[in-house]
Amino acid sequence: MSVALTGIKPTGTPHLGNYLGMINPALRLAEAYQAFYFIADYHALTTERDGAALRRSSYEVAATWLALGLDPARVTLYRQSDVPEVTELTWILSNVTPKGLLNRAHAYKAAVDENVARQRDPDAGINMGLFNYPVLMAADILFPGADAVPVGQDQRQHLEMTQDMAEAFNAAYGPILTVPEAVIDERVMTIPGLDGRKMSKSYDNIIPILAPAKQLRKAVMRIVTDSRPPEEPKDPREDTIYQLYELVAPPEAAQSMAERYERGGLGYGQAKGELFEALDATFAPARDRYAEIMADTNAIDRIFVDGSFVEDKAHPNDFDGYFGELSP
Ligand code: TRP
Repeated sequence: MSVALTGIKPTGTPHLGNYLGMINPALRLAEAYQAFYFIADYHALTTERDGAALRRSSYEVAATWLALGLDPARVTLYRQSDVPEVTELTWILSNVTPKGLLNRAHAYKAAVDENVARQRDPDAGINMGLFNYPVLMAADILFPGADAVPVGQDQRQHLEMTQDMAEAFNAAYGPILTVPEAVIDERVMTIPGLDGRKMSKSYDNIIPILAPAKQLRKAVMRIVTDSRPPEEPKDPREDTIYQLYELVAPPEAAQSMAERYERGGLGYGQAKGELFEALDATFAPARDRYAEIMADTNAIDRIFVDGSFVEDKAHPNDFDGYFGELSP
């Protein structure tokens, strides 16, 4: 069976954009692939300085995915830091990775550009973890021999770099590493946030999916609309409320909202109420499960331990083989 793999950075509150763009597609993909989904806690170390907070958010991310339907009996769910071979492979890959490739990485380049713009030393505040981030990510992917990597649009360059590293490695040592493909759901680009821009934590325009109902309703009520009165006909496709509703409500309900907007008579307050109800109906069960799962982090630890035997479960890269070849 082909292998699907993705990494989730343990940061931030899961929001509707994450769910529709990433979590749900990855869970669907896991039905047809052998799936390896992991918490990228070592990647978070580029900025995180608080170990307790990191451990806590690793549990939160795991609980989020479990609550939203990840079945640990079918998907190998693990914590990156529990699989030391990944960091070993990071070192090996770094030797077939031209420095120039990493110089071009978007996140690193943005940090350098920002320093230059502010007339600071180009490398001010930049640690080697940030610079090497793409190598660790390539090791994540190449170690279990992933074929398909479901990610957001923003990770495209990292996947291209991973392909480059796999090819450079194979050219040097033989055809050992599987060259992976990114699986990018273009729809993620069109999920609008509360202010109509792309939904993103950094814009502070998210709909938190596992928040208590009251908080969820508050977020929905913050959706920005114009001041047209209810009776005025409106184009649903230009309305953030409708755009989100369409993504979570049953098709007939979405159809009905579209018709009422076009006919006139549907006000934004009413539409927001319907959107809230649809979101609440969709996510209330997961919200309850999340609370139950977080109440027993020992059970999450057991899942992490089971998951950590990635090498035993992964297919076909005979890792010991080439570590052996390469050892001095
Ligand atoms: N860089 C990814 C992000 O910021 C997280 C990640 C780490 C990842 N390792 C990965 C994603 C391996 C896919 C595969 O979202």
